[in-house]
This record gives sequence, structure tokens and C-alpha cells, in this order.
Amino acid sequence: MSKPKVFVSRLIAQEALDKIAAVTEMEVWLEELPPSYEVLLEKAKDAEGLVTLLTDKVDAAAINRLPKLKVISNMAVGYDNIDINAATESGVVVGYTPGVLTETTADLAFALMIAAARRIVEADNYTRHGKWKTWGPMTLQGQDMHHATLGIIGLGRIGAAVARRARGFDMKILYFSRNRRSPEEEMELGVEYVSKVSELLSRSDFISINVPLTSETKYMIGEAEFALMKSSAVFVNTSRGAVVDQKALYKALKSGQIFAAGIDVTETEPIPLDDPLLSLPNIIIPPHIGSSSFATRTKMAMMVAENLLAGLRGELPPDCVNPEALKK
Ligand code: DGY
Repeated sequence: MSKPKVFVSRLIAQEALDKIAAVTEMEVWLEELPPSYEVLLEKAKDAEGLVTLLTDKVDAAAINRLPKLKVISNMAVGYDNIDINAATESGVVVGYTPGVLTETTADLAFALMIAAARRIVEADNYTRHGKWKTWGPMTLQGQDMHHATLGIIGLGRIGAAVARRARGFDMKILYFSRNRRSPEEEMELGVEYVSKVSELLSRSDFISINVPLTSETKYMIGEAEFALMKSSAVFVNTSRGAVVDQKALYKALKSGQIFAAGIDVTETEPIPLDDPLLSLPNIIIPPHIGSSSFATRTKMAMMVAENLLAGLRGELPPDCVNPEALKK
């Protein structure tokens, strides 16, 4: 019997590729940059399985052009790059990688909070550019994180992991979330629910965004929201860039409406080099590396392989966004 064809849109951990290659006819895209939309469709035209990253757009038109497709295995916890309804309609199961990246992403959210509040990148540049002449009582003052109030928007897995870290810094933790946690969970995490985002924004010293990108969360933080924040506030986003209106963020940082920001994600990735945000000293912008530790990226790749292979066997992927697709 011939093996099912699979297209993998980028190089992922070798052990995951070995697992896939053992039972499929696999092609891997080895370039540094992702295949274009058309190239991906051409490569995947006879594929039953497709491994995608968040850089691959798989919309309804793409799914319609891949008639043999049974499974898309996305190497991310977010799946806003895939039209899930269209996949479900076509009976294509979609796998994703929740859980394994929670702690690593929360580490980065925390790192951004500390780095932005204490001006770590700016301070390092200060040293490298020969500005360190002496110890100065006024030099590079920042905001304290310990005992400050942290507002978490979206208390899912990653938001909760951010909250656990914040307790070690003796922070007061507020949260706003679509689904309120049980009183027991709130107690365990040491968090206080606020029913309005506006209240969270005006009371918090640090704000961490941990929501998925959906039609409801797109641009949920804009000019009106920044206007509610304290002038000492530190704003961090490790979810998706389009949750934030970047022009409004620029204005808030430039005018001193807020103190600093750390964003691991931008609306267009990579952020264009002429984007005004890059001219500001009070923002840190890593290139979407929230889950990028050696261990976590390997675990994600293994989950991708397991989800893919289950879907190819006609089974439910262990981590599936749309189990209902199997009934189609
Ligand atoms: C995700 O998983 O959605 C991240 O953005 C990349 O790890």
C-alpha cells in the first residue's frame, strides 16, 4: 500500500520528522522563509497531511484546493492562521500544540515585564555605547515590579502561568477573562476578577495580554484603552499582534501616556524596519520567540507529529481544535 503524502512547511525537530517519515511520503520545505501561499498549495496538492506554522495562511480557498487533505497539524497553540470552519466543513481535522509551551511563554512574558520596567535593553546599549561614565544616582531609573499590581487579560493556561510567577514577586494580581475561574482556582492562583477591562487597565501597574486572536479580541487595546492606563504602566503582549492597535501603542509610548512596553508579537511579522515603534527606546520587540526554548520547540514538534499521524489514520488527533470534523 502506498504511503500517504505529507508536506511539512518548514524544518522542525529531526526526531519529529523521523517519526513522520517512517510512515509517510514526506516532503519538507527547507528554506529559511516560508513557502508562499501558492507554493504551499502546489506542494500540498496531493497531500493527505499538512504540517503548518503560524506563518502559513490556510484559508477556505486553500482547503478547497486540497481535496485529499485529511489533517492539518499546526505547530502553535494559536490557530488564527487557519480557517477552522472551512476545515471542519471539509472534514479536515486540525491539530495544535497547547500545554507544552505554557511555561516557556509565561517565562518570556515575565522577562519582557522585567526588561521593560527596568530598561534592561536600553541599559545594555548604554554600556555598549560608552555612556557608562560612573555610578549615577539618577541613572536609568525604572519601575519596581515587586509589590506592584499586575493585570492579566485572558486567564487561560498562559495567563495562569504568568499569575503563578507574579506571586513570587509579591504582586497583587487582577484578571479579566471571558470565562471567570472558580473561587477555588482564584484562591489558588491568588487572583482577583474584575468584570470590566477598563477597571483592570486603570488599576494595574503591569498589564499582560494573554488572549487568542479572534474577531472579538482584534484591536481590543487601542487609544481609549491606553488612555486609561497609568503613566507608569508597563504593557506586555505575548499573544498576537493584532490584539493591539500599534499606532495607538506608539502614541502612548511616545507621549508618556504609559512608561514602557514589551511585545513579542506584531500585527505584521516581521515588523517593517521603518515602523515608528522601532524608533522608541521604551519598547522591546523580540521576534515572536515566546515558545522558543530548545526543549519546548522539540516537544511542540513531537506533538505536531502525533497529531498529524493520528489524523492520517482517520483518528482524532490527541490535541484537536475541531473534533466535529471527523463526523463529516
Ligand atoms: C503559538 O504557539 O501560538 C505561539 O505564538 C508560537 O509558539
